[in-house]
Amino acid sequence: MRRHPLRLLITAGPTREPIDPVRFLSNYSTGVLGHTLVAEAQRRGHAVLFITGPTGSPPPRGVKTVAVETALQMQAALERAFPAVDAVIMAAAVADFRPARAAAQKIKRSGVAGGLKLWRLELVENPDLVAGLATRRTRQVIMGFALETSRALANARAKLRTKQLDAIVLTQMRGPRAPFGDTTVDGAIVKSSGAVQPFRRLAKPALARRILDTVERLVAQRGKTSSAA
Ligand code: C5P
Repeated sequence: MRRHPLRLLITAGPTREPIDPVRFLSNYSTGVLGHTLVAEAQRRGHAVLFITGPTGSPPPRGVKTVAVETALQMQAALERAFPAVDAVIMAAAVADFRPARAAAQKIKRSGVAGGLKLWRLELVENPDLVAGLATRRTRQVIMGFALETSRALANARAKLRTKQLDAIVLTQMRGPRAPFGDTTVDGAIVKSSGAVQPFRRLAKPALARRILDTVERLVAQRGKTSSAA
C-alpha cells in the first residue's frame, strides 16, 4: 500500500525525577513499545522525532532522537517539536509526581541503629504533558496510552475524554510487571468516536502495526475534514 509520509512525534520510556544527586523516582517502563513503534514508522517511510527517557536501549538508527530525564525536560522537548508534526504517539510512562525539591547533596540516613525512623519525601504533581498538548492542537492527531490494573476500559475511556485525545491504547496488567519489556499484551485501542478494537496476547510489533494503522487513518480523516471546512 502506498502511504502518505507523516511527521510523527513518538515518546518512550520512563522519566526520572531526582531526589538527590544519586537517587530518583521512576517506574518499570522499558521503552520497548516506543522503539518498536519507531521501527515500524521508519519502515512505513514516516519522518520520526523520537523523545525518550532513559531506557538502556541504544537510540534507534537514522532517527532524530532527543534524550531526556525528567517530565519537565520531556515537556520542553515536546513543546518545541509539536507545532510541526501531524501526530503525537505518547508511549512514554511519564512520572505523575516529582520530589518537591531535589537535595543538592546526597541525603544521609540518620545513622541511628534500631527503631523505626520515618523519613518523609514531599512530592508535587507533574503537568499532564499529553493533555497540555491536546489543548493547543491545531490539526495534530494525539494518541495516548493507559496502563490499567482495574476497571480497565472505563478508566481508559475516562482518560481519553479528560485528556482530549483522539485515541488511547489500553494495556492491561497481567503479571506483576507486565506489560513492561518484551511481553505480549492484552488491551484495546479506543477512539474518541467510541470505537473499540480489542486485542489479546498481541506481540509488540503487531501492536505497533495496529497503532500506526489507526494513526494514519485518523490523520487522513482529519485532512478530509479540515480541507472540507
Ligand atoms: O494518567 P496516566 O498516567 O495513566 O496517562 C497515561 C497517558 O498520559 C500516557 O500517554 C502518558 O504518556 C501520558 N501522561 C502525560 N503526562 C503525565 C502523565 C501521563 O503525558 N504527567
